[in-house]
Amino acid sequence: MSPTAVPAPILAPEIADPRLYLDGIPHERFARIRAIPGLAWHPYGDNGFWAVTRHADVRAVSRNPTVFSSAIGHTNLWDLEADALEARRSLIDTDAPDHTRLRRMVAGAFTPKNIRRWEDAVREITVELLDIFVAQGGGDWVDMVAAPLPIRVILAMLGVPVADAGYLVELSNYLVEGTGDTQSLPPDAFGNTTELRLLPFNSPASHALFEYGDEMRSKRRAEPRDDLVTHLVEAEAEGGRISRHEYRHLFHLLVFAGNETTRTAISHGAMALAANPDQWQRVLDDPELVEPATEEIIRWATPVLHMRRTAATDCELAGTPIAAGEKLVMWYGSANRDEAVFANPLRFDVGRRTSEHFAFGGGGPHLCLGAFLARLEVSVLLQEMAARRLFLEQLGEPVRVASNFVHGVLSVDMAPGGAS
Ligand code: HEM
Repeated sequence: MSPTAVPAPILAPEIADPRLYLDGIPHERFARIRAIPGLAWHPYGDNGFWAVTRHADVRAVSRNPTVFSSAIGHTNLWDLEADALEARRSLIDTDAPDHTRLRRMVAGAFTPKNIRRWEDAVREITVELLDIFVAQGGGDWVDMVAAPLPIRVILAMLGVPVADAGYLVELSNYLVEGTGDTQSLPPDAFGNTTELRLLPFNSPASHALFEYGDEMRSKRRAEPRDDLVTHLVEAEAEGGRISRHEYRHLFHLLVFAGNETTRTAISHGAMALAANPDQWQRVLDDPELVEPATEEIIRWATPVLHMRRTAATDCELAGTPIAAGEKLVMWYGSANRDEAVFANPLRFDVGRRTSEHFAFGGGGPHLCLGAFLARLEVSVLLQEMAARRLFLEQLGEPVRVASNFVHGVLSVDMAPGGAS
């Protein structure tokens, strides 16, 4: 080897195969990667990616968007052809200044102050769902509580009629499928004529969601209301601050992100509380623990498993040289189990006094827009479960999604257990 040659990188164990996630996050493999000095290289397709698994490295990548771009390439680990990248680009796959402009358009609705205005609505929906769950003696927790709660809230914010919630949950479920290696829809489902590679998640359900968003847009143009769609339509009217493409993709992103992620947190949260009744008892004994328990549930669940960035220039991370154009994939489930930050990271502990988890991303401009909303939904659910002294009993194994992108749960049966 010449003195200037770069040594071959250490290869990471397989973590991209969607089927690995059918048994949950492969924590042991991630622990092995975290222990490798520098960054490990993971072959993938014709090429590969740098596996960013340590908490400090996820933070460094997230907070340096000039070097680690969201717009070059794609934010998922698989590659897209140039035309598909443009056709599929949304807020999440942009850099400043487009990102700053688009994010400003929706950020106001998601500030802590404005999200608090939704607390009564969130509580009303939660009470209704929990009452039915208890009255019916339980059932599929995802179907009865975890899925309807977030979708009903985000649809109310957007101004979508409650009657359409079921249809949009169905579309969202098909999108999740598109992140794994199964696709149950035929390409022309919902009247789709667009090539699948040009649609988010390669799914004809994206076409249906775009159509639905367009319909909403026409309705709000004709009859404005006090909702998010009207707000976006008005922004569009005021000199094209948002293009039609951007509107369609924002609508799509808000429905998907507002629904799938919090549903996952609530599903894993219920399983964690059922498996650790002592931890739930602590929350019942001390209502002040609702807040840390909410953060712990979100850390524990880590609903989004990865986001990717692409190096805009030659650079270095954790002592590893990275060439312009190479991919870096941040694995949030690994950062959230990093022993350097979390004591006993594989323990579910509602008293953990840290909100240092990266389930909402590692900071920087793309930090989850809906973080305060998700926290509100989980904490109101915990408050209402506590008010009923509702213990959960898990009946059987969950049905998980085969995906390396979302930590999804399709169904898990729960029964209301005895009060303490
Ligand atoms: C527990 C629930 C949630 C989790 C774990 C979660 C996680 C994430 C993550 C990891 C990112 C990417 C961060 C990055 O690249 O740095 C993200 C971005 C985003 N999330 Fe969430 N999310 C959740 C709930 C929500 C909700 C309720 C909404 C509702 C609108 C939402 C909307 C978005 C949007 C629009 C983005 C893109 C932000 C941008 O690129 O500027 N999320 N989320």
